[in-house]
Amino acid sequence: MSKILVTGGCGYIGAHTIVDLIENGFEVISIDDNSRSTPFLLTGLEKITGIRVKNYKVNLCDFDDTRAVFQENPDIIGIIHFAAYKAVGESVEKPLMYFDNNIPSLVNLLKCTDEFKVPYFVFSSSCTVYGNPDHIPVTEQSPTKPAESPYGLTKQIGELIIQQSSPVMDTQFILLRYFNPVGAHPSIHIGELPLGKPANLVPAITQSAIGKIPALTVFGNDYPTRDGSNIRDYIHVSDIAHAHTLGIQFLENGKNNNKVEIFNLGTGNGVSVLEAIKAFEESTGQKLDYHIGPRRAGDVVAIYANNEKAVTELGWEIKYDLNTMMKTAWDWEVKIKEDELLIGSQNPLLN
Ligand code: WQD
Repeated sequence: MSKILVTGGCGYIGAHTIVDLIENGFEVISIDDNSRSTPFLLTGLEKITGIRVKNYKVNLCDFDDTRAVFQENPDIIGIIHFAAYKAVGESVEKPLMYFDNNIPSLVNLLKCTDEFKVPYFVFSSSCTVYGNPDHIPVTEQSPTKPAESPYGLTKQIGELIIQQSSPVMDTQFILLRYFNPVGAHPSIHIGELPLGKPANLVPAITQSAIGKIPALTVFGNDYPTRDGSNIRDYIHVSDIAHAHTLGIQFLENGKNNNKVEIFNLGTGNGVSVLEAIKAFEESTGQKLDYHIGPRRAGDVVAIYANNEKAVTELGWEIKYDLNTMMKTAWDWEVKIKEDELLIGSQNPLLN
């Protein structure tokens, strides 16, 4: 079986991607220093796949420790790189922490990729590289605008490092620009475990609905959109996960025309905050208590994807609709509350 290294494998998108890779016949190992995650999701992953994935608890900013993993696994044929700090608001408060983590970790990984001649590399990028777009939907050729946050800047820098290193490397690259990943695996054995108070809309909805945090604040309803609230492209995390498997297979089959191929991962549907709330209430039967608050600094008014390239070239098909995204997110919230009660919130991420 082809062996794939997933960095950030204990995280939200990482764990879902490992499930999809295993279900498609790949062998997987993970590197995750658990600074922003716990092995909690590896247990759920094992319940789904029957496989206990080996995680190397290594900080990618330590080159020697990272290189040791490659020495022990010279048969790695592909790398999917998720491990990075990714909280937009935190990055505004602590920009140097983000630059000091997200950039050196990528460079170390690329140095090992080159030394061990790993053929394929998939980079977790983000629609934040587009900034506030002039035209929507955005395509992969849409201009990248000045990043709205240090987090977004680290994604832009990461893409440029790969673009400028690839000509002298044998590795083939894919950059995947996620829109808004939400929801949980249909088995409800894995899902999102936000650190502390969630910044993102869907975990904020589910945590306020279950009473873990106060009533949701909608950050502004006076935007120039159909209902005044921001528009985003919410995409189920399992659809995002499968695109990674398709990306590796795309490179394995030599389908790429360029050494670095970029793909937008979104549904192509713009959904407003108020519409997302309505979908949550409809799909779960929960009435959500929320109020309108001031705008949040850095928020993009509206963005959603043109995903035609991923659909036609990767053969990517969107399986999950908005109601399923909301229902699985809610079912996961209910489950971790039960687990929390069961395990007495031993998991620091559940506090
Ligand atoms: C969505 C909308 C908020 C919380 C995220 C990630 C970023 C990138 C892109 C991967 C906005 C509104 C939110 C709340 C609200 N993903 N909102 N009340 O800002 O689009 O960015 O996706 O790289 O990393 O952060 O997502 O979920 O934070 O916000 O009204 O309590 O929900 O104003 O309009 P965003 P988000």
